[in-house]
Amino acid sequence: MVVRGWVVHHRSSGKIRFFELRDGTGYLQCVMGKADVSPEVFARFDGVSLEASVCVTGSVRADPRSPGGFELGLKDLELIGASADYPISPKEHGVGFLMDERHLWLRSRRQHAMLRVRAEVMRGIREYLDGEGYLPMDAPILTPNACEGTTTLFELQYFERKAYLSQSGQLYNEAAAMAFGKVYCFGPTFRAEKSKTRRHLMEFWMVEPEAAFLDLDGDMALAEGMVAHVVQRVLDRCRADLAVLERDVTKLENVRAPFPRISYDEALEVIRGAGGQIPWGDDFGADEETLLSQAFDKPVLVHRYPAQVKAFYMKRDPARPEVALCVDMIAPEGYGEIVGGGCREESLEALEERIREHGLPVETFKWFLDLRRYGSVPHAGFGLGVERTVAWITGVPHVRETIPFPRLLDRMYP
Ligand code: 4AD
Ligand code: MG
Repeated sequence: MVVRGWVVHHRSSGKIRFFELRDGTGYLQCVMGKADVSPEVFARFDGVSLEASVCVTGSVRADPRSPGGFELGLKDLELIGASADYPISPKEHGVGFLMDERHLWLRSRRQHAMLRVRAEVMRGIREYLDGEGYLPMDAPILTPNACEGTTTLFELQYFERKAYLSQSGQLYNEAAAMAFGKVYCFGPTFRAEKSKTRRHLMEFWMVEPEAAFLDLDGDMALAEGMVAHVVQRVLDRCRADLAVLERDVTKLENVRAPFPRISYDEALEVIRGAGGQIPWGDDFGADEETLLSQAFDKPVLVHRYPAQVKAFYMKRDPARPEVALCVDMIAPEGYGEIVGGGCREESLEALEERIREHGLPVETFKWFLDLRRYGSVPHAGFGLGVERTVAWITGVPHVRETIPFPRLLDRMYP
């Protein structure tokens, strides 16, 4: 058989040469005996260095000592691309260095495991929503509107006008939901967050389902169903990757519906009981979310936050206008908020008033207000951040490793 790939490590022992090959799908031990190949081929081993690319021809044989239980006995070796002084060695490197070498760091076993889980999370999300009858409907990235407040907008020049990078596809999703009933968008979103935390990226991927006639309970059930599905799918398909990442999977096995559902007021009691000090009306920060997550062994759904800390489009609870019919899902083990969403204000008058209250330019929302002018219906949805979800599932402390090329406050390279 013929295999092409990159050299992961190599060693010599007497008249035998060993090296391990990575082809992207897995690892293969290659063995070349001096007696089995021509002197010319044997000499090519001199070019076999860390991350050199090679093409090998040989026959597979069982060998219990090799990592996969099999090895390739070489008959031929061809060097494709040399690799001299590969900067990442098996020794420990600092994260700053590895981030500078991110384009090469992607080749390491741990990054492979991480990004394969990410891919599986994304597949699981699509599989779940497609199965529930949600239609994929892409939202634009270049937008004239602010969706999640004006403080985190990336502004750019759109010919003679100003435009923003999308903070969320939600507003467009609402239009699509009025056209198709159940839709979702899934793409990169952008926030100029001046915060240097382990949960914030400037560019992150968000999946956002939106459905007409969905109420808050239905919205919570959808978020819970999707997250439970994704976690179980990763457990089914990525055991080996989770093992490379040394993830304690018992914590994930428990992630099955139903998840606890508590109101903001109840959450406040839990937080205060655990020593947190926060007045009614404040949004939860990382500290409060961590205290809350420690009280549960599953993700927890917190509903009905004070309307004052939420976005302009949130519908108020008719029974208690000071709270919004919204929900956040807080991940276990201190990973923070992974889902935010809720019911949308469907009345034209109330929405116009909110847009003004939030100091947003009513003109740019004319199209959005049309959705309330022509056949407005109750509707709801949410957004789930892929990187925070992957960080939690893989158990890494920082979101920076959960996306191939992270955009952080202090990093835009490579
Ligand atoms: O709570 P957020 O801001 O909600 C929205 O954007 C809604 N418009 C979504 C909707 O209802 N359609 O963001 C949703 C999720 C958060 O829970 C978090 O997981 C993630 O997006 N997120 C971030 N992830 C990484 N870095 C950031 N800076 C993030 N900001 C939000
Ligand atoms: Mg939020």
